[in-house]
Amino acid sequence: MEKDQVLRQKAQQEVEKHQETVTCDPYLPSYHIAPPVGLINDPNGWIQWNGTYHLFYQWMPFKTEHGAKFWGHLSSANLVDWKQEPIALTPSAWFDKDGCYSGSAISHDGQLKLFYTGNVKNNDIRETYQCLATSTDGIHFDKKGVQIELPDGFTAHFRDPKVWEQDGKFYMVIGAQTVEQKGSVVWYESNNLQDWEFQGILADGFGYMWECPDFFPLNGEDVLLFSPQGLEADGIHYRNLFQSGYVIGNWKERFEFGYFTELDRGFEFYAPQTTLDEKGRRLLFGWIGVPDQKEEYHPTKKNQWIHQLTLPRELELKNGKIYQKPVEELTDLRDELLVNEYGPMTKMIPRASEIILDEITGKKGYITIFDYATIDFNKTNRTITLTRPAFDNSEKEERVGIFESKLNNIRIFIDHSSLEVFINDGELVFTSRMFADTSIATVEVQAQGKLSLWSLKQKF
Ligand code: FRU
Repeated sequence: MEKDQVLRQKAQQEVEKHQETVTCDPYLPSYHIAPPVGLINDPNGWIQWNGTYHLFYQWMPFKTEHGAKFWGHLSSANLVDWKQEPIALTPSAWFDKDGCYSGSAISHDGQLKLFYTGNVKNNDIRETYQCLATSTDGIHFDKKGVQIELPDGFTAHFRDPKVWEQDGKFYMVIGAQTVEQKGSVVWYESNNLQDWEFQGILADGFGYMWECPDFFPLNGEDVLLFSPQGLEADGIHYRNLFQSGYVIGNWKERFEFGYFTELDRGFEFYAPQTTLDEKGRRLLFGWIGVPDQKEEYHPTKKNQWIHQLTLPRELELKNGKIYQKPVEELTDLRDELLVNEYGPMTKMIPRASEIILDEITGKKGYITIFDYATIDFNKTNRTITLTRPAFDNSEKEERVGIFESKLNNIRIFIDHSSLEVFINDGELVFTSRMFADTSIATVEVQAQGKLSLWSLKQKF
């Protein structure tokens, strides 16, 4: 049997073997995307194609650690209900045998084309190839092999192609490390999606490696999104081991980029990818995880799965800042309105719920979820602070964000072991894992304001 077939079968067996253990885990999210078994990391190939949303993801079916990645595949008509599709890519070829690493999708000539990185390691020596796989039905993909080899001047940490079309030409950005060990993003140009011409470095300047670049126009500006590694913490900034963020500039004028802004201020957020959907919205998915975090402390590993993806978010650029709003379709998740009243209060909440606090009148206040995570606000110094116990020693750790002027609303999505907090309709976002004691079911709101609380439907 061909290696691809063998790998597909083995992965399927692994899903079946652990299905019950995974689905019985009280930390398994019920409306966020999690792996059927094993480990999920970056969202890949994110696209709406012929009306259907396709989302691929980095997947290790055989263990809850990183390794030779597959591309898992989900589809959706409405961004709320997802269907698990057959595996899109397995690490079966000589050019991707140690992982079909991250990449992107583009629609061209009636085909869905996936550009991804083939990761190869022989005796610990890494090789990297930018590869193509195509499909006519959006379900079955044929590998077309290596499209781009490593150019001079870069190490084999050269990956995660993001492709797009603009004014009749095709462009690609790739995350790279120069031989001087500097993080950068390089770009290529093509007239036909086949012959790619290396254009050079689009941006660099800090860190030792930049992963998962994305590039797109947003409300009249150009945005370069990437996940740099090697940034030192600086006050309230860059507190996670690795970051994800963006710079804004004008690419046609050689991208004189401005300040690097973190996209998300929570504890776990990495490798986001965007697409433009058929309604003209710029939509983002991210990974609720960070590479090289101490994963041995994740209680879900014993139940054969780890990590999840964020909810889909719509992006907008206002006053030089990216706002991220949960897509409007997510209101369809709402099941029952359980609370709709003013004042400080303590309530029982389901493990899948949505909370909105608005009409906030007090100067200070906080919301504590399951006695585990606390979101504090202080209008005087315009801070929002998310606090939770560290996984390895239970000591309190915190992340801080500063809002521009007023505090209008706090919207929180809770899903068993994850938390997404949107401040002021997405001016600031905090994404985090949450391993609260499963016997505690309360939310405590010590704030003057109106609280709305919904239970959310189960989707997975
Ligand atoms: C980011 C990343 C990518 C790589 C993939 C491998 O999390 O390291 O750079 O393509 O994950 O799974």
